[in-house]
Amino acid sequence: MSEEYLLDSEIEGPAEEALEKTLRPRQLSEYIGQDTVKSNLSVFLEAARQRQEPLDHVLLYGPPGLGKTTLAHVIAREMDAPIRMTSGPSVEKPGDLAAILTNLQAGEVLFVDEIHRLGKVLEEILYPAMEDFALDLVIGSGPAARTVRLDLPRFTLVGATTRFGLLSPPLRDRFGIVHHLDYYNQESLTTIARRSSSILGIEMDADGAGEIAGRSRGTPRVCNRLLKRVRDFAQVAGEPMITGDGARSALTRLEVDRFGLAQTDRRILLAILEKFDGGPVGLNTLAAAVGEDRGTLEEIYEPYLLQIGFLDRTPKGRRVTRRAREHLGYGIV
Ligand SMILES: Nc1ncnc2c1ncn2[C@@H]1O[C@H](COP(=O)(O)OP(=O)(O)OP(=O)(O)O)[C@@H](O)[C@H]1O
Ligand SMILES: [Mg+2]
Repeated sequence: MSEEYLLDSEIEGPAEEALEKTLRPRQLSEYIGQDTVKSNLSVFLEAARQRQEPLDHVLLYGPPGLGKTTLAHVIAREMDAPIRMTSGPSVEKPGDLAAILTNLQAGEVLFVDEIHRLGKVLEEILYPAMEDFALDLVIGSGPAARTVRLDLPRFTLVGATTRFGLLSPPLRDRFGIVHHLDYYNQESLTTIARRSSSILGIEMDADGAGEIAGRSRGTPRVCNRLLKRVRDFAQVAGEPMITGDGARSALTRLEVDRFGLAQTDRRILLAILEKFDGGPVGLNTLAAAVGEDRGTLEEIYEPYLLQIGFLDRTPKGRRVTRRAREHLGYGIV
């Protein structure tokens, strides 16, 4: 299995999806890590509850698999509110968005995933909806056209995006609460691995949990996937428990190295080293060289490589760092 399958949620089967749901924390107290986000959010939640008002609109951004969708559900649950899910690409026409908004209940959480992919026209419908809880409908056309304003119930919009920079400033500014989710540290990921293994009924020792956590690219979704695959290896080998050795050998077979890098990460770094002399190389050129699309590189692979100090972003393009050279056995040049 290549690591693409470990990162891309859309190509999962229904069974994996159901599993992901069972592993999803339901309340803030079960949500591991992201301590700053959690402690601030718990204050805003408590204040809103005390005032018996819906929470202000929330924007969550950060790399895939860090828990944005999970946190949206947690917010709804903490507010004891229903949640309606939609996503930027799935809302096509203004009428679709108007229908969603007019059907909201008071206090409901409207989750818009990939909110950066909402079209301009749809964004403009959201502005008064977010600010004044109103929907401006244009009736008729030409000189006879007029606008009618409909009141909407007060609701909480929770927007999620992996691409904060692609959000238009007016939309960004209408979120009262903006949180960036960051990669998880080893300790949090170890706790997540332990929590997931206990939900799934998998025996695992501390060394095994640490090994999986350390190779999870700072990402809970990857952590859960690696746990499931390591369990497969242990099960087939007839081992009753996931140990450090068991995890290491399974992860080596999965070609996930001790930094959590998998084939595509290595392909990217090696391309820069071998074809572009270590860089700098522009993102488009690099994307063409590794046969990935630019957006995928920027959204999925690059943030983690930057985070662990394997890649540098310079005005002239991407450069491989000394740390990455050493890890890949290229030494210093
Ligand atoms: N803080 C957390 N504690 C424990 N598990 C978590 C946490 N955050 C996320 N997870 C696990 O990781 C999985 C992925 O999280 P989620 O789907 O919320 O990520 P996402 O940020 O919405 O990703 P994407 O950008 O791809 O939509 C969840 O199913 C959940 O099991
Ligand atoms: Mg999501």
